Amino acid sequence: MWEAGNHAPENRSAILYTHKDVETGRGLAAGSLPLPSEYQVRSALQSCHTGNFGLPAAMFSYSQNDLYCEEVPLADVARRVGTPAYVYSSRSIVANYRSYDQAFGALPHTVCYAVKANSSLAVLRLLAEAGAGFDIVSGGELFRVLRAGGDPSKVVFSGVGKTAAEVEYALSSGIHSFNCESAAELSLIDAMAARQGVKAGFAIRVNPDVDASTHPYISTGLSRHKFGIAIAEAAAVYEHARGLANLAAEGVSCHIGSQMLDPSPILEAVDKVLHLACSLRGQGYPIRHLDLGGGLGIAYHAGEQTPAIRDFIESLRNRLEASGLRILVEPGRSVAGPAGVLLARVLYRKKNGSKEFIVVDTAMNDLIRPALYHAHHEIIALRKSPLPPLTADVVGPVCESGDFLARDRQMPNAMPGDFLAVCAAGAYGFVQSSNYNSRPRAAEVLVEGSTWRVIRERETYEDLVRGERV
Ligand code: LLP
Repeated sequence: MWEAGNHAPENRSAILYTHKDVETGRGLAAGSLPLPSEYQVRSALQSCHTGNFGLPAAMFSYSQNDLYCEEVPLADVARRVGTPAYVYSSRSIVANYRSYDQAFGALPHTVCYAVKANSSLAVLRLLAEAGAGFDIVSGGELFRVLRAGGDPSKVVFSGVGKTAAEVEYALSSGIHSFNCESAAELSLIDAMAARQGVKAGFAIRVNPDVDASTHPYISTGLSRHKFGIAIAEAAAVYEHARGLANLAAEGVSCHIGSQMLDPSPILEAVDKVLHLACSLRGQGYPIRHLDLGGGLGIAYHAGEQTPAIRDFIESLRNRLEASGLRILVEPGRSVAGPAGVLLARVLYRKKNGSKEFIVVDTAMNDLIRPALYHAHHEIIALRKSPLPPLTADVVGPVCESGDFLARDRQMPNAMPGDFLAVCAAGAYGFVQSSNYNSRPRAAEVLVEGSTWRVIRERETYEDLVRGERV
């Protein structure tokens, strides 16, 4: 028996659904809404789009009042898989990756997708097949990349606190290089490489002291932050590394923050890092690459203007083309973020005094961004309501007042049983979810054209207690 989550799916065993199943009603609940044919979907896709909610209009569209991801009606997914459920557009993920890859043109480059943004195996597999490299920050992320078929020789290992076991695992897997954040870490990598009889490629992650002007929790490039080695001290640390026989200086890296809607701080950091790389080369270090991290922002607010990936990479190219260096970037959010929505179902409507609440089955444990960063995610109805919108808080069942998805927001007039989509939730959504309040983690679904499949089962109550002893 299906036992976890708040909304039981109609058919949990089905693996792959196609739009044909939708037309024939396979797996649909009795009395559920009739759905438009593929022709109707296609013809309506152009007319009504969702781009102003932070979703790519080509991948998420309303047709006849119903929200579609590619050619799949999302209400159909919600009914069959249950809610909460994350749904990703494979076309959007691949298109975002390709925007980076193609914008580099002939300039040697590797787009190392930041696994932390969305580490589901099926998502990693899509990107590996498209040719991506990967930026990891833990042994667990490396395990996922390898399990998904990623190429270890395109993996860079970032992070301020790598353990000896993680370094050993990365070395024995043959990753490309380590982004090192301290002299002590370099010594550890050197010792582990000696034990394995290999040379470890490394780049020093420099802290360029550039203000990313983003949320303080995701800003990393100032000298007061724990990240990197102060740019003024980096040359001395490269010099120290020259004396460590099992290390090979491959590059220079930096990452100054995330969700940057103005990329000019990244460009400022690039200039500083390029200057350092050139001076190191002048001193005979065989620096071959520059790793510029991630950080490009996406639209979370309706109508928000965001930098185009192509324009951003073009401005990098202009600065870097003459350097002769391979360029690495580590985008996470801008690849996965706009490609995903989180589906929720309305449980109750209630009023406290004059304040309206829409209580949904999806909570801060499923998407912590609003509670943690006061992040804004647009919330839209899977079926447009004829009722006028209202101002309400959208809240979940967790026992904290911080458990909200939206506050004092103009919301669709959704009634119990209606489905909602939390937009731009493809990055830092599921990966930051937890079992708080002993809530099983959500299911995940991948849409590919007119087919979709569950790429992660919803957790069960048994999953919640796995590994525990009374
Ligand atoms: N490279 C490094 C070394 C990073 O630390 C990060 C993100 C990235 C790349 C990818 O950055 P992106 O392209 O995704 O901006 N949980 C927060 C975001 C934390 C980002 C941490 N580092 C959120 O929900 O907004």
